[in-house]
Amino acid sequence: MTVTRVGIAGGGTMGAGIAHRLLVRGIEVVLVERDDVDAANAHDRVATGLRLAHERGYLADDVDGVLERLTTAGALNAFDGLGFVIEAVPELPELKRDLLGRIEPILADNAVLATNTSSLSIDGLAAGLQRPERFCGMHFFNPVPASDLLEVVRGRATDDGTIEAATELGERLDLTAIVVDDAPGFATSRLGVALGLEAIRMVEDGVGSAEDIDTAMRLGYKHPVGPLRLGDLVGLDVRLGIAEYLAAELGPRFAPPRLLRDMVADGKLGKKSGEGFFVWE
Ligand SMILES: NC(=O)c1ccc[n+]([C@@H]2O[C@H](COP(=O)([O-])OP(=O)(O)OC[C@H]3O[C@@H](n4cnc5c(N)ncnc54)[C@H](O)[C@@H]3O)[C@@H](O)[C@H]2O)c1
Repeated sequence: MTVTRVGIAGGGTMGAGIAHRLLVRGIEVVLVERDDVDAANAHDRVATGLRLAHERGYLADDVDGVLERLTTAGALNAFDGLGFVIEAVPELPELKRDLLGRIEPILADNAVLATNTSSLSIDGLAAGLQRPERFCGMHFFNPVPASDLLEVVRGRATDDGTIEAATELGERLDLTAIVVDDAPGFATSRLGVALGLEAIRMVEDGVGSAEDIDTAMRLGYKHPVGPLRLGDLVGLDVRLGIAEYLAAELGPRFAPPRLLRDMVADGKLGKKSGEGFFVWE
């Protein structure tokens, strides 16, 4: 069955980006935030993203017309009867588990419920669900409107129909979907964080400047963006959280460097705070 309406829980960086991607491809979006004030902010975030895309020539459609497909709300009952919902709230296992458990009973019987977690265990998040077979990971990448990949994560209980539905939705969004099993950090975060942490240790050890270390990977290895700039874009607090989780699951090779902890404690979170390894205007 073709999905025409998708719910998103959490309209921050990722939720707003996922909404953008769905809306411009003609899919209606119901975006739910914590309360009405946050819902209005999330609406603004999506509208700003669409306007920028229009101004820069990435989006030909009239922005107000696209926004007609967006509904924002401050309470979960806006998801009533939906067949597809993606959760994109902060990377806090208790918050996600609690929210997923409250969303599931509101949805249609056979609805797909997905999480955009970057690294948390799908089986762990599915623990309280009544229909874990309809639950999977849909890991989108930042910035979502410009990304190419969707990492679909299969939990132990996830059925084939759910994987197909998630993959199909990704293809409608012009994303290439890969399917991986539920292992800490999946394929992308595990490799990406390993590289990012080593780059931070190299700054800490004085091996080179952030700029030069990034240039090494961009020009030497053809990475489109260096690991330190990428950390700034993702958010260093987000990076720290994932590193702590991977260190607990996979061992001390993922232990966050002192420099990363200090920068987060000093409020240097990357692009969103205006400064990280680079200064952001
Ligand atoms: N930022 C990235 O680059 C990135 C990339 C891939 C995946 N992710 C994952 O996406 C998820 C969201 O990350 P983000 O960067 O968008 O975070 P964010 O902090 O920008 O946004 C989270 C949003 O969730 C909202 N929220 C909190 N509690 C809520 C609730 N109970 N109900 C509804 N909304 C609620 C917050 O108000 C906020 O707007 C995380 O799991 C993260 O690991 C992030």
